[in-house]
Amino acid sequence: MADRILVATDGSETGARAVACAAELSDKLHRGLSILHVQLHARPSIELTRLAETEHLLDHLARAPHSAGHSSASSLGAYYEATKGAVERAWVIEAIGTEILARACTSAADAGARDIRSRVAAGDYADEILDMAEAEGAGMIVLGRRGLGRLREVLVGSVTQKVLHATDRTVVIVR
Ligand SMILES: Nc1ncnc2c1ncn2[C@@H]1O[C@H](COP(=O)(O)OP(=O)(O)O)[C@@H](O)[C@H]1O
Ligand SMILES: [Mg+2]
Repeated sequence: MADRILVATDGSETGARAVACAAELSDKLHRGLSILHVQLHARPSIELTRLAETEHLLDHLARAPHSAGHSSASSLGAYYEATKGAVERAWVIEAIGTEILARACTSAADAGARDIRSRVAAGDYADEILDMAEAEGAGMIVLGRRGLGRLREVLVGSVTQKVLHATDRTVVIVR
């Protein structure tokens, strides 16, 4: 099999479109697909309000064994704000990350992606994407044009910009 394709998703709708595109490329080009999510850390309570499919995630958190159970929270951002303590907050971010990745893997598999490998990482978003591309021997990196950030006037998000400038691999930017 030729070199692999890496797709990174932050759980946004654009990230989900990047996963769909990468899965199709994996299928058509006969390349293995590696999927990465880097745990959210920049402005979690703002970013979490923009996650796609939040109802399912809220449900998942409220039912989890370590949940603080803020069942009245109307959004993931509110859930995060209601969670006090660094350890509990880290657990929420980790649980959300695991779920984002699981859903990305399921949708990629359903779309016909081949030889899926996946990972949740912690660290700088762009650096983790670059490191995984290296580790997986990915010839192509698929990213969304935007993500969960709030600067709507920016054409291309900062993570995608940083990866674009730092790699000589093929980068596909999904709109
Ligand atoms: N935490 C993350 N984990 C994995 N991929 C990410 C992460 N954050 C951003 N990305 C990738 O970068 C794309 C663009 O996001 P980003 O540059 O952060 O834009 P924005 O400023 O709109 O959030 C996303 O669609 C996704 O492909
Ligand atoms: Mg972002």
